Amino acid sequence: MTGGHMTPGSTLANLTALWAARDGAGVTEVVASDAAHLSIVKAAKILGLKLHQIPTDATGAMIEDGLPSDLSRSALVLTAGTTSTGAIDPLALSGRAAWTHVDAAWAGPMRLTRMSDRLDGIETADSVAVSAHKWFFQPKESALIFFKDVRKAHEAISLGGAYLAVPNIGVLGSHGAMAIPLLATLLAWGREGLAARIEKCIHVAESIADHVSQDDHLQLLALPVTGVVNWRPKDTQLFDAWHQSLPQGMVSTTTIHGEKWFRNVIANPMANALAITEAIKAVQP
Ligand SMILES: Cc1ncc(COP(=O)(O)O)c(C=O)c1O
Repeated sequence: MTGGHMTPGSTLANLTALWAARDGAGVTEVVASDAAHLSIVKAAKILGLKLHQIPTDATGAMIEDGLPSDLSRSALVLTAGTTSTGAIDPLALSGRAAWTHVDAAWAGPMRLTRMSDRLDGIETADSVAVSAHKWFFQPKESALIFFKDVRKAHEAISLGGAYLAVPNIGVLGSHGAMAIPLLATLLAWGREGLAARIEKCIHVAESIADHVSQDDHLQLLALPVTGVVNWRPKDTQLFDAWHQSLPQGMVSTTTIHGEKWFRNVIANPMANALAITEAIKAVQP
């Protein structure tokens, strides 16, 4: 990417990207998987773009064969780290459409880590959204929208006004200095410090997955690729009893292809994998 700007969250980063796609590349439809974040649905509605949803596989990743053959008027949205399962859509599809947007709200910062290759292909997108209030550990309302051709993209989403010294870029008018905490974090921890904390989160997720896969009573959805673990009791009748027995707040729940799963999203590098697996072991539904 050649540049971009900050937005208060990836909902607005996604809206901004699709606005640039509509007015900069003439797209009339959004193509995204059925596991894409609801902000993509919102953006399509707000921008008056048609939405074409593509089915996902058992892990929540887009099924490539479900794509329409003609993407010449489409913005293809690929998710890097889906909200429910942390799946990464096939990023090799980037470039097939009039515009490719990667919603990397969750997993984008992994590009700084030793697991960077899991995001290979992201560099060919036209735009990329990243939430800084997720794996850049920022206070809420901090995200980034990046563009491959920032000059052209910003031109499509800028409006001038007689009273403005410079054009107003993007959705927001006045806004706070949201870059300062991110700058402070970068100065304090550096790129390596951020990467180390993200890698720690990924290792915690792997430890939980490892424990679940070795417990005969539990089922793991898939090996975690971006620090999100989905699991449940094999006897799904016991799901609610398990939920009640787990320490409050230790898991969230999600529905994947109509079935309920537990979900651990490791966003905190201080999370203690041992404490979590001990809490799982202690459940006796
Ligand atoms: C994949 C994905 N995209 C977009 C968003 C929206 O981000 P925000 O909450 O920063 O608006 C989320 C939030 O969970 C997300 O997981």
